[in-house]
Amino acid sequence: KKRIVSGVQPTGSIHLGNYLGAIRNWILLQNTYDTFFFIVDLHAITLPYDAQQLSKATRDTAALYLACGVDTSKASVFVQSHVRAHAELMWLLSSVTPVGWLNRMIQFKEKSRKAGDENVGVGLLTYPVLMASDILLYQSDFVPVGEDQKQHLELTRELAERVNHLFGGRKWKKLGGRGGSVFKVPEPLIPPVGARVMSLTDGLSKMSKSAPSDQSRINLLDPKDVIANKIKRCKTDSFPGMEFDNPERPECNNLLSIYQLISGKTKAEVAEECRDMNWGTFKSLLADALIDHLQPIQVRYEEIISDSAYLDGILAEGATKAAGIADATLHNVYQAMGFLRR
Ligand code: TYM
Repeated sequence: KKRIVSGVQPTGSIHLGNYLGAIRNWILLQNTYDTFFFIVDLHAITLPYDAQQLSKATRDTAALYLACGVDTSKASVFVQSHVRAHAELMWLLSSVTPVGWLNRMIQFKEKSRKAGDENVGVGLLTYPVLMASDILLYQSDFVPVGEDQKQHLELTRELAERVNHLFGGRKWKKLGGRGGSVFKVPEPLIPPVGARVMSLTDGLSKMSKSAPSDQSRINLLDPKDVIANKIKRCKTDSFPGMEFDNPERPECNNLLSIYQLISGKTKAEVAEECRDMNWGTFKSLLADALIDHLQPIQVRYEEIISDSAYLDGILAEGATKAAGIADATLHNVYQAMGFLRR
């Protein structure tokens, strides 16, 4: 079976972009592939954060994975920091990652510009190396993510190739290893629609956890009236009707795409259904569809989060299974890099 890994940071609340760009796609994949979904708590500390909130946010995120349909009879769910190999491999990879590669990362540039010098830790720069470790430890074939992670996936691929070149093949065999490549080179899986869900208040910027205004995003746990209110107040334009793909109407395109994904209809069906609607009519259609879609997720979330023994059990089981695979890879990397093993 081919293997798939992916994860979300436990920072802020999970929003529609995380759901449509990533989590929702995991649900189909778990039927066909060997899947590992983690909560990347080690990544969540790369910007100033509240230590009082981290463990709660980590559990909340895990509960949401399950509420969204991750099925632990098929997929493994675990917390990144529970599998030590992630942090350990990161050190090994850091030493062969050119700083120039990291300086080029768009997310680093954006986040460090926003955070201000004092708040930019070394971890923010090396963040993609940890992400590469998350992926390469499992010899993953595919990584389902939104568009904004594409560059990090590129870096992961380059890093895998670099290690294979520097330490794999005959050199590794001479050290007693199996030879061949140390890491499998993974591929991103980016959905055709939903890979970049935009803000409700600006159709040209991405929906994000860190945007200061909560009006800009729909969180999966927003109550009904909040969802209705956010949609009612979201940015519109003064064109007649509703249409996809008009570059002058980014908000219209974004909301139609969200409706398409949430309703399960095709693009053509949505275009036809909404063509002659005015903003008011379309907004109430969209708000109702969102509320109907998110409500069962919210109900399941409440059940799961209130049964902490159950959730802890799932996370413990997931970590044990993940550690088995991750440790085997880590062993190989130490061997290929020439370390004395005890
Ligand atoms: P994070 O927590 O920022 O986002 C989690 C997932 O949601 C996607 N996403 C979006 N998709 C569509 N529209 C949006 N507006 C939107 N915003 C976020 C992201 O692309 C991502 O798939 N570095 C990662 C977490 C990570 C990871 C990994 C992912 C760490 N290690 C290994 C995959 C494999 C991140 O910060 O995602």
